[in-house]
Amino acid sequence: MLGQQAVLCLSSLLSTTSSSSHYLSLPKEAEEQQYQRTEASSTPRSQQDWCRIRPNEHGQQQCRGCNEICSLMRWGEVQRRQDAAFEGRSEARLFHSNYRELDMCATRYGCDTCRTMRRAFLLAQITGSGAQSLECPDQQWPVYAVLDICHSGDSLLLSIEAPHTTLFSAAVPLRHEKPLVTNDPTRKGGRLRADFTELRHVIRECHENHDCSWKYRWSDQNPSWLLEILPNNEAQLVKGPDQPVEYVVLSYSWGDPEAMPTAEWARIKAAATQSKNRDGQPVVERLRPFSRWDLPEIMQDAIAIAEGIGFRYIWIDSVCIPKGTNWDTEASVMHEVYGNAVFTLAASSCTKATENLLHDRLAWKHRSKACKLRGMWLLDNQPSLDEVRLGSPVSQRGWTLQEERLSPRILYWASQRWYWSCPERQVAELSQMGCPSPRPKQGAWSPPQNFLEVCRTGEEQQLDKEWLDVVEAYTRRDLAHAKDRFLAISGLAVRLYNAKVENVENNATEEYLAGLWRDNIAENLAWSVDRAANPQNNLLEVAPSWSWASLPLKMETTTKHNFRPSEHFRLISSSRIETTPSKFTNRGQIIEERGRTVKTLEVQGRFRRFISDESQEVHWDSIEKKHGCRTGYNFSMLPGRPLHARNSTDGRLVTKEAHRGEIVAQLDYFSTQNEEGEKEGPHVYLPDGAERELVCLELGDLAMLLLQQVPNKLDTFRRVGVCIDYANRKGFFYGCDVRRIHLC
Ligand SMILES: *[C@@H]1O[C@H](CO)[C@@H](O)[C@H](O)[C@H]1NC(C)=O
Ligand SMILES: *[C@@H]1O[C@H](CO)[C@@H](O)[C@H](O)[C@H]1NC(C)=O
Ligand SMILES: *[C@@H]1O[C@H](CO)[C@@H](O)[C@H](O)[C@H]1NC(C)=O
Ligand SMILES: [Zn+2]
Ligand SMILES: [Zn+2]
Repeated sequence: MLGQQAVLCLSSLLSTTSSSSHYLSLPKEAEEQQYQRTEASSTPRSQQDWCRIRPNEHGQQQCRGCNEICSLMRWGEVQRRQDAAFEGRSEARLFHSNYRELDMCATRYGCDTCRTMRRAFLLAQITGSGAQSLECPDQQWPVYAVLDICHSGDSLLLSIEAPHTTLFSAAVPLRHEKPLVTNDPTRKGGRLRADFTELRHVIRECHENHDCSWKYRWSDQNPSWLLEILPNNEAQLVKGPDQPVEYVVLSYSWGDPEAMPTAEWARIKAAATQSKNRDGQPVVERLRPFSRWDLPEIMQDAIAIAEGIGFRYIWIDSVCIPKGTNWDTEASVMHEVYGNAVFTLAASSCTKATENLLHDRLAWKHRSKACKLRGMWLLDNQPSLDEVRLGSPVSQRGWTLQEERLSPRILYWASQRWYWSCPERQVAELSQMGCPSPRPKQGAWSPPQNFLEVCRTGEEQQLDKEWLDVVEAYTRRDLAHAKDRFLAISGLAVRLYNAKVENVENNATEEYLAGLWRDNIAENLAWSVDRAANPQNNLLEVAPSWSWASLPLKMETTTKHNFRPSEHFRLISSSRIETTPSKFTNRGQIIEERGRTVKTLEVQGRFRRFISDESQEVHWDSIEKKHGCRTGYNFSMLPGRPLHARNSTDGRLVTKEAHRGEIVAQLDYFSTQNEEGEKEGPHVYLPDGAERELVCLELGDLAMLLLQQVPNKLDTFRRVGVCIDYANRKGFFYGCDVRRIHLC
């Protein structure tokens, strides 16, 4: 989530006992407060005391919390005076007893600092439930501030700390220059609803002045069914008109069924359009006007937003794909549904379908004024578009990845503001009124539309790189049904395949192989987990061991390395299990569907043992040496001996031959001695001691697979790990034989 870094830093700072360098321990009073829930009502002392306002030398209202901040800033000035290049963090100071007190200080007493702090906390919350929970009675814990001095700009790190956990955090940048606030974006009383005028303006500008409308559009086709928005809060399912119409699509998550009451989950499922004969013809009740209140909250609000901006049609998956329709067929035309939409509405503010998408914009409740303490201006913290994109619960779900990347234009609806993103412009709500638009971080910014752009220009290497990026983004996500592993990105595979065969020379060979691409197979095989997975969660029933799709859900992986294929490696053939294919007309869809059932690859390449016979196993802790945050290895206890060691928690495996450099491999799974709850079917973990049997297959310059032979099957191996960038042993495969084997 947003500001995680700050959360981590602060909680470690608060729990640390060794007050090294510039970290000071908490003041006594604060320490007590931290473990004592503060009840604003039962301690009238604190509130009146903390919110006593006095004007400061800049003519601004300042409370007692502000005095604490000023003393942090004085501390910073002292450090800077002693050492102009100083970087570091101050002690944590109690700023307010809890959020409600801070809110009171801002609202009732008009404290300018607290208004800025309050807004920072609210803006840091992407979801509506997050913003609301700031005010929850059981979340009222002390608010702390830390001054972070950094050469790229100082900031105040705020956090609300319950015992042993940080509940909320926010950052307020400090600058010498006065921030540009030309106009106050405050709403006039009443409900603090989002204003559609500005949004209409942004969309019109994109329509009229950008290429976005036509450049990335897939076709003139409408989806088979659309929801027509009718007056009087009604809606109706209609067949997609023959002429292209402007429609909005909703990208959202149903939510976790295990985290909600059965009745709530049933209500979400009941939103799906039924069909009578399992033929995909919707029931008549949906073909007549029906009340929008029959739909879950998220859909009601999505319809309200589309209507508010001035659109007549919206597409929502479960409503517009009637039950009985072949989902496989529908799911692989998503590049069409999302590619042709006027924009995609990403429900960033929701954690589930029964939550509202529209929330009061609490952050803009008060007049904001440029605010100054001890000569420094406090800026509004603006979460970047990427923070909102990647920090929202929708981005944790598997299906929404392709919904985002197949969309030329996306409206991210967060709890406090919306963000618009088209290939030519990224802008946030209220930007026009003096709130600076969130700037993407230099270098790190890769807009989601990059996928479509690369597909449009069709440069082969970039297409290959883009797929690696898709895999990295996809493996960390969750799915309600693991069997949807391929289906949920089939739209991306089809789109990419089409881009390859249409634009690339020598286009006849490309093939989709269980989530990997034939023409770049060596690099596609070199995926790596960041930490070994729990073997019990493997998805080997979905995909073979050499495919990333066989990993458990929600795994962090790395796919992009500095990769140069080995001249010895070659894919000979692939084989798959026979299935009855659906009736597709698009070649891309046929290829994608066939690709899901590929199970075995026949490959050839240089081959050798990973650990030599004479090698002695040593304990991991005896060789790993940490230097600060860098990891190194020290083999000097047994000089000149071949050694190996394995870390059975994170899955690292080191081998070192006598007088040679060491090689560090990463196993896909950690070992488990726990036989209970062991999954039926293939064992994926490597029992302790079995690492001696491992063999390696060279994929590229400094990239190899670690394989284990499948019992009783000659020349058939399964993947157990990978080893990348073993720069200490460049000649590892020198002189080794080329062999032909099967991977399964
Ligand atoms: C390969 O591309 C050419 C155009 O460059 C096209 O005519 C041909 O149909 C394509 N082949 C396949 C197998 O799609
Ligand atoms: C390596 O380990 C040996 C003892 O096993 C120790 O004497 C030596 O200082 C270590 N070297 C480094 C660089 O840590
Ligand atoms: C394995 O690595 C982890 C860090 O990834 C470390 O905490 C642990 O101490 C290591 N050693 C063993 C024996 O698991
Ligand atoms: Zn205040
Ligand atoms: Zn545009």
